[in-house]
Amino acid sequence: MERWRTIIEPFRIKSVEPIRMTTVAERDDHLREAGFNLFNLHAADVLIDLLTDSGTGAMSAEQWAGIQRGDESYAGSPSWFRFLDAVTELFAFRHVIPTHQGRAAEKILFSVIGGPDKVIPSNTHFDTTRANIEFTGAEAVDLVIAEGRSPSVIHPFKGNMDTDALDTLIVERGAERVPVVFVTVTNNSGGGQPVSMANLRAVREVCDRYGLPLFLDACRFAENAWFIKQREDGYAERSVPDIVREMAGLADGMTMSGKKDALANIGGWLALNDDRWAEACRNMLILTEGFPTYGGLAGRDLEAMAAGLREVVQDDYLRYRVRSTAYLGEALVEAGVPVVQPIGGHAVYLDAAALLPHVPPLEYPGQALACALYREGGIRGCEIGTVMFGQHPDGTESPAPMELVRLAIPRRVYTQSHVDYVIEVIRWVAERAEQLRGMRIVEQPSALRHFTARFEPLAAAG
Ligand SMILES: Cc1ncc(COP(=O)(O)O)c(C=O)c1O
Repeated sequence: MERWRTIIEPFRIKSVEPIRMTTVAERDDHLREAGFNLFNLHAADVLIDLLTDSGTGAMSAEQWAGIQRGDESYAGSPSWFRFLDAVTELFAFRHVIPTHQGRAAEKILFSVIGGPDKVIPSNTHFDTTRANIEFTGAEAVDLVIAEGRSPSVIHPFKGNMDTDALDTLIVERGAERVPVVFVTVTNNSGGGQPVSMANLRAVREVCDRYGLPLFLDACRFAENAWFIKQREDGYAERSVPDIVREMAGLADGMTMSGKKDALANIGGWLALNDDRWAEACRNMLILTEGFPTYGGLAGRDLEAMAAGLREVVQDDYLRYRVRSTAYLGEALVEAGVPVVQPIGGHAVYLDAAALLPHVPPLEYPGQALACALYREGGIRGCEIGTVMFGQHPDGTESPAPMELVRLAIPRRVYTQSHVDYVIEVIRWVAERAEQLRGMRIVEQPSALRHFTARFEPLAAAG
């Protein structure tokens, strides 16, 4: 047991970036100018930016040193070999293909193995994964366990895949139509919830039964490994790199966004064992990203990821990372604010439907709550509800399954006092939640409306 209860940030600050205080009146103006869409704000007008944990982390002195060391040779750069070593130390796949970010790895893989008639199951596909699968004409199917679909059910591995449902899908559709099975660790769209090693093993068994490859969407692999170490029998004494190697050993390949658990601001990769797929993917890489020893990246970006991969699997970092996210979530639970439970690795999800029961889904309670957090405290979160998922290609709309506001925590950026401030603002807003009104959309594109739609607050009733 640790002697002291306080878990401190395991770093000290060497370089600072000022954040600018603003008033409610200024933020009212910014909201109006942005059409009440937080994606339209100037980031300089945001005090605490929890829009995403992707690419928003702070790099270490070692990573900045790596950036200086970056070798920009077109082919065979030493930076590439340092990156390759760091990746294969954890993920011993035969082929590693660098890309500019995660979705480029997805695009390349699915243009090689997807296509009409194909079905690709996952616990839950992230939106870019789903979009890249569907772009090829294939179908993306989510098969997370039932607990993973309910915000308040406590389960240690809510990201697990329903392996019976996987088996049934393969039998019903035919194994020849399933080119690959995906598991997202941790399950971002399902609340940053982890997947257990036992579940990965069970998915592997189903794959083996039908001769199918298993790939990881490994964006938050280190956070997932930490949850396994904390929560799964038999793993407490195992090192995180060892747990990661065991996860990787169950898979045949991976897609990765280096903007998450490689602690970098840009980058990603695709790794796999199959020689024929790898050749086809490299050919596609050369068309769309670049030569196979740099992908869509500069040598210095490869260095940043190489150093980040060594730091992200350290116990001190992961203990702080997961605890500091839980610290925010637990304070909100204690204050009676409804959140998705248990708290995931990278974000806290406010349950806007439960907090604003008087705002119907088609008046966008998540958007109303996200705007209120910005207005009152300069905090930027992200609606994950009917604005994001309610629009259909035929122009109709229907309520999303959940109305959430995601507060994603950038890595190594904010301190405990920033988080205490966030808690104070959310409590204040939650205590006055019945005064919040819904929104209506005044302008929207035909797809992916959450990025650009413009809103207007609805007037108070009566
Ligand atoms: C689970 C998951 N997969 C894939 C991606 C796509 O990665 P990128 O943003 O680097 O394209 C993300 C990004 O948020 C993600 O969370």
